[in-house]
Amino acid sequence: MNAIYIRRSIRSYKEQIVEKEKIDKLLRAAMQAPSAGNQQPWEFIVVQNKNTLEKLSHLSPYAKPVARAPLALVLLANMEGLRFPENWEQDMSAATQNILLEAVELGLGAVWLGVAPNKDRMDYVKKLFNLPEKIKPFCVLAIGYPALGQENKFIDRYDESRVRYEKWS
Ligand SMILES: Cc1cc2nc3c(=O)[nH]c(=O)nc-3n(C[C@H](O)[C@H](O)[C@H](O)COP(=O)(O)O)c2cc1C
Repeated sequence: MNAIYIRRSIRSYKEQIVEKEKIDKLLRAAMQAPSAGNQQPWEFIVVQNKNTLEKLSHLSPYAKPVARAPLALVLLANMEGLRFPENWEQDMSAATQNILLEAVELGLGAVWLGVAPNKDRMDYVKKLFNLPEKIKPFCVLAIGYPALGQENKFIDRYDESRVRYEKWS
């Protein structure tokens, strides 16, 4: 799968808006992810409002790219009635990676901005969107068409020394 190899964190974007059909595809990809007991805890907030994007960029010192993005997806977990609540972050990570890979397929660039498990960041997002107690913020994805000079491209990270066969030593 080529997208796995060329995906990069893209942090600068063109002004160009991301079409509704592409946003739908990103969300569909997310919801195809595996989850513990198929519990599918995910909820999403699609953000295109400049003012909200700017506010999101203050969620952490590393969230500045979202102020420059035409689109953000805020990934949330609904903790109500989960069979395996302790697996919520794994479930959400799988959905996040699906979006990042689908973004590459659609000619977009994206970056994962970490929220959970940092309590201050989670509280910031909770407050910004006035989230109910059962909803936990997981991450924010800043998404757009890569700015000139930014592109998804292959970097070889294969490291043979990390692989063992059948036993440790
Ligand atoms: C859990 C997690 C949190 C991350 N948080 C941030 C972040 O807050 N800001 C940011 O610019 N990049 C963030 N990243 C992106 C990483 O910096 C990036 O994936 C890493 O440097 C490797 O580069 P690549 O994505 O281009 O392969 C995060 C990635 C992960 C998996």
